[in-house]
Amino acid sequence: MNDKVLHIPVLLDEVINALSLTKNEIYVDATFGLGGYTKAILSNQNCKVVAIDRDPNAKAHADVLKRSYADRFYFKKGKFSELGTFLKELKIYKVAGVVFDLGVSSPQLDTQDRGFSFKLDGPLDMRMSSEGPTAEEFLNEVEEVTLANIIYELGDEVYSRRIAKNIIHQRSINKIKTTGQLADIVRNAIPKKKSKIDLATKTFQAIRIYLNDEIKELEEGLIAAEKVLLPEGRLVVVSFHSIEDKIVKNFFHKCLRNNSFSRHLPERPKENPSFEILTKKPILPSAKEICINKRSRSAKLRIAKRTHFSSIFGEIA
Ligand SMILES: C[S@@+](CC[C@H](N)C(=O)[O-])C[C@H]1O[C@@H](n2cnc3c(N)ncnc32)[C@H](O)[C@@H]1O
Repeated sequence: MNDKVLHIPVLLDEVINALSLTKNEIYVDATFGLGGYTKAILSNQNCKVVAIDRDPNAKAHADVLKRSYADRFYFKKGKFSELGTFLKELKIYKVAGVVFDLGVSSPQLDTQDRGFSFKLDGPLDMRMSSEGPTAEEFLNEVEEVTLANIIYELGDEVYSRRIAKNIIHQRSINKIKTTGQLADIVRNAIPKKKSKIDLATKTFQAIRIYLNDEIKELEEGLIAAEKVLLPEGRLVVVSFHSIEDKIVKNFFHKCLRNNSFSRHLPERPKENPSFEILTKKPILPSAKEICINKRSRSAKLRIAKRTHFSSIFGEIA
């Protein structure tokens, strides 16, 4: 556990309001992190929380919380795409709310050894769960075209081809081992221009999303949440970049239109939708929150309420 790293939960009051907490109900915190949301849920209402995180370091924070909320708090190390299975193991079949706070936590980003940050020079790791190939292994093996496509699609980076080319060239001279090395290779591939963000930002984001399979995780996590939510249950999602937000928005609309059938058929009128969307536009942090917590500046909160119609994806197997 890295206690030196300060973590301020993003949009905390808004998330707690969105969950509409009810006594004795069960809520899922799908991205436990340092437990900021879980702690607020448990202290605001006499309810239960099942929390999930794939990061092995999250357990130490969960153990601390377990001391205060022994009977109302359960923690599972794992991926949120498997939340249905985790709930079933606890003999829980329906819950009143699921919250996702996507992306990386402050300790992941601010701990040099985790290798997520282009600001700190650490080993090129970038794995949330500390399992599977590291960024170093990936970058020293991947083909140029594949890498360029990943940087373009998951980083929205217009200089993706130049960056990929420079990475492949540099690795033929010296193995790329550190975040500092990678950040310099990326920066040197891009024409110097005024930019509000570090020129390495988008490439680091793309590699992290790819390595942690974040797109598939999010899609499967949202589907799992739809299946386990009770009527009136809330799905609450905080995202931090446009790719995530687009997936959440499209998912809500898909559930609203109940059009899981075929995209080749004409769109059906709203019929038995599984969600009512409560946020036409996403909720954003206030200027005050951004001032206190710079990391909140790109956050977007979307909320949907489960209807009484059956799941459009089928029940949990
Ligand atoms: C932004 S932090 C959450 C912070 C938390 N809300 C708090 O208040 O402390 C995101 C967390 O989600 C976890 N995470 C990201 N993707 C995950 C996934 N697919 N399955 C499980 N945990 C995931 C990360 O390991 C990280 O700890």
